[in-house]
Amino acid sequence: MTTWNKRTKAVHAGTRRSQYNEVSEAIFLTQGFVYDTAEDAQARFVKAGPDEFIYARYGNPTTAMFEDRIAAIEGAEDAFATASGMAAVSGALMAVLKAGDHVVSARALFGSCLYVLEEVLTRYGVEVTFVDGTDLDQWRAALRPDTKVAFFESISNPALEVADIAGIAALAHAQGALVMVDNVFATPVYSRAFELGADVVIYSATKHIDGQGRALAGVILGSKAFIRGTVEPYMKHTGGSMSPFTAWMLVKGLEHMDLRVRAQAASALHIASALEGHPKLTRVIYPGLPSHPQHDLCVAQMGVGGTVLAIDTGSQEASFRMLNALGIFLISNNLGDAKSIATPPASTTHQRLPADQKAHLGITPGLIRLSVGLEDADDLLADLKQALDQA
Ligand SMILES: Cc1ncc(COP(=O)(O)O)c(C=O)c1O
Repeated sequence: MTTWNKRTKAVHAGTRRSQYNEVSEAIFLTQGFVYDTAEDAQARFVKAGPDEFIYARYGNPTTAMFEDRIAAIEGAEDAFATASGMAAVSGALMAVLKAGDHVVSARALFGSCLYVLEEVLTRYGVEVTFVDGTDLDQWRAALRPDTKVAFFESISNPALEVADIAGIAALAHAQGALVMVDNVFATPVYSRAFELGADVVIYSATKHIDGQGRALAGVILGSKAFIRGTVEPYMKHTGGSMSPFTAWMLVKGLEHMDLRVRAQAASALHIASALEGHPKLTRVIYPGLPSHPQHDLCVAQMGVGGTVLAIDTGSQEASFRMLNALGIFLISNNLGDAKSIATPPASTTHQRLPADQKAHLGITPGLIRLSVGLEDADDLLADLKQALDQA
């Protein structure tokens, strides 16, 4: 299996067959497992062997299939499946940090990630320094010998800033810090995060991994020692584990993730290129366009610009008029879905931020994040253009 390419791993890696030798992966909707004897129960609680399970919060055969499959695709030694992307982000951080530790984080983060770093960790005595994630000098200045974790989104939500994974990893490792990358926008299809120096990679599997808007889910990937020695004890006792039903949906979702994401990224490039310079827009932000400030870095890291772009209509009034005129794009707040979704971050996902912070992060009142789905790219473009006429 180690010689297989990602697409083959996405279809076959991690498969566990029951005694019936089913083709499609089975769903083990069970919270518990029966022991033949009291001695077996005792032995399993002391040390569970491979494919020996105790309780679904600790592990489950279907969840293990998902963990093994996504780890194989990402090139990680191991993975822990979580109940949501935020359970993965908060779990990975809480599992390693203690009072007195220092964290350096990019400031441009998804609203809930920012809440965890700014409000939750600091409440438990963790010091957090925020930097401009695209500026290596700021990382260099902020990282210290007592820095435990460097945290950032490889492409930030929603302003699509691209972080230099290798550059940040070199600086963080020089100070002995762990590099944690929230890699949602890069997707496992285009990710080279471990190769570039990340120690821990996190996904909201609610996005491209499910890809059909059905499941809330997440995953933490890293070395076997980190996942089983640090993450698993924290997650299995605090309760953020994934349900087996969700894991089954994701196992099936992974089979066609590569096809979906490549089609979505191609459509996103088509739309971004066509909208750039549109008279009703003040900005088109897409890392796949040469006009993006980190275009070269993005191409070097991922090869493409991803499935999400952002446009700026200049004002909240114009953005609302446009949103209300859309016929195919849905006004919602997920991304990576087969259905195209338009999100106004300033009034939804990042609403909580004070005006000056929004301005600092480029979250202007007229900004609309566009997650490009699997519809026909020309239909999507026509929808956006007719809605812009009404903005
Ligand atoms: C970059 C990023 N990280 C984490 C999350 C949280 O994921 P979830 O909604 O699955 O908890 C999101 C959700 O939008 C996200 O965009």
